[in-house]
Amino acid sequence: MKGIHSIFLACFLVTTFACFLASAFDPSPLQDFLFVNGKFCKDPKLAVADDFFFSGLNKPGNTNNQVGSNVTTVNVDQIPGLNTLGISLVRIDYEPYGENPPHTHPRGTEILVVVQGTLYVGFVTSNPENHLIKKLLYPGDVFVFPVGLIHFQYNVGNTPAVAFVGLSSQKAGVIVTPEIRLID
Ligand SMILES: *[C@@H]1O[C@H](CO)[C@@H](O)[C@H](O)[C@H]1NC(C)=O
Repeated sequence: MKGIHSIFLACFLVTTFACFLASAFDPSPLQDFLFVNGKFCKDPKLAVADDFFFSGLNKPGNTNNQVGSNVTTVNVDQIPGLNTLGISLVRIDYEPYGENPPHTHPRGTEILVVVQGTLYVGFVTSNPENHLIKKLLYPGDVFVFPVGLIHFQYNVGNTPAVAFVGLSSQKAGVIVTPEIRLID
């Protein structure tokens, strides 16, 4: 009798755990496919401050290009200590009327804070709604772009604009929509 009770208990626990797993969030891949992590893990005994350090985010990127914006990336490529931690940072500079054109980050949700200028920002929800969620942002304003959704920022002011962005991935990846080539 005791044995049967244990079997029931075991089944109950397995089913509960399976349900728990089934309703959990997808584990976040670290790149588009295969190639495991691609980064070395460091022996904690050998870790030094520079493994967790980057300097230079006070400097604007050069916006003298076709789109009039520049993204300075601080991800696991710049800070090895970000490996597996699911977080990274960028600085975006926009010249007057410059834009960060429509793009998506396949692996990261983005949270943006405007520190200078006026940005018109937005993202498009997925099918079938394809609803454009948009807003005008001023210094101190914060906006979220959910993972995978196509989004943009456009400097609508006649002065340069600056924003800082946190991403929920050590390397969120980027696909710039107008650059997608359907035929080789
Ligand atoms: C962004 O700015 C950096 C630093 O000024 C520069 O090296 C880089 O070429 C710029 N990128 C683009 C796309 O203009």
